[in-house]
Amino acid sequence: MDRGATPGFKVNIEDQARAFLAANPDLRVTALGPRENLAEIEDPWGIPLQRWPAEDHLDRCLDYLALNRQAFPTLPLAGWVLSDIYLLSGAIAILARGDQIQAAWVGLPLKPGYRLGVSLLSTQPGLGAWAKSFGAAMFKAEVLRGVVQWSGQSLRAHTRLGPLRIVGQIPGEHEVGGFVYETVLDPEGWALAMQRRHPMRATEIVDVSDSERLNAIVQRSAAGERWFVVPPGIDEGKVGLRHESGVQ
Ligand SMILES: CC(C)(COP(=O)(O)OP(=O)(O)OC[C@H]1O[C@@H](n2cnc3c(N)ncnc32)[C@H](O)[C@@H]1OP(=O)(O)O)[C@@H](O)C(=O)NCCC(=O)NCCS
Repeated sequence: MDRGATPGFKVNIEDQARAFLAANPDLRVTALGPRENLAEIEDPWGIPLQRWPAEDHLDRCLDYLALNRQAFPTLPLAGWVLSDIYLLSGAIAILARGDQIQAAWVGLPLKPGYRLGVSLLSTQPGLGAWAKSFGAAMFKAEVLRGVVQWSGQSLRAHTRLGPLRIVGQIPGEHEVGGFVYETVLDPEGWALAMQRRHPMRATEIVDVSDSERLNAIVQRSAAGERWFVVPPGIDEGKVGLRHESGVQ
């Protein structure tokens, strides 16, 4: 998997996205959704978007459902959630090879400029963060929110778009747990994070098993303190965190 990485490194996410696709010419940036919604989605960074109208592509909708259930075996996606929420709210951002879905991300509208990301999935290392990036660009998101767990590969994938500001606890009763984060997308920081060159440094390193400390930080964040998960998120079981003075 070629990320379109160094030596042709570009400190701009748009240039880097073009380099990624040039290095992986078999991948197509794709959106799967109702025809009416697809008409409103823009080509991400001007890169031609392949549109799969859901009305004509029940097969691709079913492929997505199967892939999602494979990626999240303990959280089986219900058909009605796929239809009523994932598809009807906009579209699913996909990296495709031919008619095969290789990676996908769902960005639900939250408030102007904000998207709520769910169900990041990837079949090949190196594609997940790009699927999310192209999704954010096609929806013209400025800020992304989402839920993430402290341990695992996904914290690393999400920090490829930049540091995660900890927003607070997950509302309701969540099967997996974790915390709510947001990423403010800026083209340079995004490009740097994608290449693991983001300059933010941790002020504290916490073992991922130290749930008492991590929960306390989430609660302090919810109360207004500014805490970030620093890229690359987790390394050898330790999470890099940054506390910045002032309130959000
Ligand atoms: C979590 C998930 C989406 C990550 O997808 P991904 O494609 O591996 O994500 P990324 O694009 O960030 O790549 C991650 C890893 O790929 C590997 N990778 C990247 N470039 C690579 C390359 N050129 N060659 C080989 N491996 C490479 C690296 O290990 C990289 O980790 P890093 O961040 O330490 O560099 C995927 O594992 C998945 O689908 N998991 C199941 C569903 C899930 O839990 N989703 C998370 C929901 S919050």
